[in-house]
Amino acid sequence: MIIKKLSLYNFKNHTEKRFEFSPQINCFVGNNGAGKTNILDALHYLSVGKSFLGNTDLNNIKNEEDFFTIEAEIGNEDSEDIIKILQPKESKKIIKKNDKSYDRMADHIGYLPSVMISPYDSNLISDAGESRRKFLDSMISQTDSEYLFNLIQYQKTIQQRNALLKYFAKNRTWDRDSLEIYDEP
Ligand SMILES: Nc1ncnc2c1ncn2[C@@H]1O[C@H](COP(=O)(O)OP(=O)(O)OP(=O)(O)O)[C@@H](O)[C@H]1O
Ligand SMILES: [Mg+2]
Repeated sequence: MIIKKLSLYNFKNHTEKRFEFSPQINCFVGNNGAGKTNILDALHYLSVGKSFLGNTDLNNIKNEEDFFTIEAEIGNEDSEDIIKILQPKESKKIIKKNDKSYDRMADHIGYLPSVMISPYDSNLISDAGESRRKFLDSMISQTDSEYLFNLIQYQKTIQQRNALLKYFAKNRTWDRDSLEIYDEP
């Protein structure tokens, strides 16, 4: 599977750009600030639906504009797919494969697996375990949909458990039974 073509519209500093890629190695050459890393970020969006630089989706819309789109032509062995991401300013991000919207982003993850390596990866060594876990979770989720499903469930449970702990702290109360509902999963 290869990404044959990429079109960007109002994505960060790219007003309207089209790229055709080689099936082998591709290099981007340009001045500082020309938008090379932003192209990689667009490819990361196509893979997992978000920026690898940690920006919010809305910050990736070109300044003063109302939406961005990222569109790619993906060549498989004997067919082609079009993946399109639309992020409007006022509503939810939409991701489509061949004009059909996904219900959940999780259904797309794994279709176009990617590994992003950048200077920021020194964080993986210097930061606390959280960034290492995130990195591994993201890699494994792309090849194992059950892992991704369990991870999403786990994160929901942790969020609810934390909300309960905060509630206990705020109201100076404690209820072991309600906490155990979350400990089991
Ligand atoms: N939402 C946005 N709207 C407009 N411009 C943006 C937006 N987000 C980022 N930029 C611009 O993108 C540019 C940075 O692009 P990028 O980091 O891709 O450059 P680069 O070619 O990788 O540069 P370097 O060679 O320094 O790594 C900056 O000029 C920044 O202002
Ligand atoms: Mg760069």
